[in-house]
Amino acid sequence: MNKVKTETIELNLLLEAIYLKYGYDFRNYSRASIKRRVVSFLSESPCETMSALQHEILYHPDFFEKLLFRLSVNVTEMFRDPGFYLALKKHVFPELEKKENIKIWHAGCATGEEVYSLSILLKEEGLYDRCYLYATDIDDQSIGKAKDAIYPMKKMQAYTSNYNKAGGRKSFSDYYTAKYDFAILKGELKKNIIFTNHNLATDAVFGEMDLIICRNVLIYFNRELQDRALALFKESLCENGILCLGSKETIRVSSSSGDFEDVSAPQRIYRVV
Ligand SMILES: C[S@@+](CC[C@H](N)C(=O)[O-])C[C@H]1O[C@@H](n2cnc3c(N)ncnc32)[C@H](O)[C@@H]1O
Repeated sequence: MNKVKTETIELNLLLEAIYLKYGYDFRNYSRASIKRRVVSFLSESPCETMSALQHEILYHPDFFEKLLFRLSVNVTEMFRDPGFYLALKKHVFPELEKKENIKIWHAGCATGEEVYSLSILLKEEGLYDRCYLYATDIDDQSIGKAKDAIYPMKKMQAYTSNYNKAGGRKSFSDYYTAKYDFAILKGELKKNIIFTNHNLATDAVFGEMDLIICRNVLIYFNRELQDRALALFKESLCENGILCLGSKETIRVSSSSGDFEDVSAPQRIYRVV
């Protein structure tokens, strides 16, 4: 008989318990990364084993929220990978320009930095007023922060450099007000954004989108879950709609590969065919 390690059994049971109790499905996330996060959370918790952690999670929703925050990995920044935004302006904005109304979905928006980056560039190109932006994430805490749009002042220097490299046309400081140690983004950048919860592992198709941006999310999924998300994106795009992935993600190894052509392969920008 095959012997499965106790820790593997406990992790499987924990993920199953989370799914059954709260509906969050981490069972098909990349196992090494999810295990690392659970083990680190466990070491800082009063629990001695994953089984004890499971008990706490099942009986204390507040405790689960803390674990959820850790499992979600909400690392992000403004104008992350500036070359991506240059490619977006060069290859995608001209196509958006032809449309009367533009629908954009940012899946896995974390704390909002990415969607505000896009808002700024759309504004500078005169497209923002025609746009409806839907920014979604699995984690409500992150969505709350995204809605607030208040970021540490100390990050603004790096963001200014990214903004300039991304082809920004103005002074980045025009887009925020400094207050103590924080930068408050201007309200005009939020105007056309709807923030809401959406889970790529369990939820359904999301509208007739012209552009979907989902960067640095699929990297945490196993192949099966990546395929599910990519099929969901294909179904959510309008004719000739554009899909953008993160720099370490590609559509080319997935079962959806044949459904997309390259717009800019190095920048992971694809068009549905
Ligand atoms: C590393 S961040 C990427 C943020 C941003 N897209 C970027 O590239 O800077 C990954 C985000 O994906 C979200 N996420 C993880 N699993 C998800 C799922 N099943 N559905 C939707 N979002 C998910 C996390 O909560 C987190 O905010």
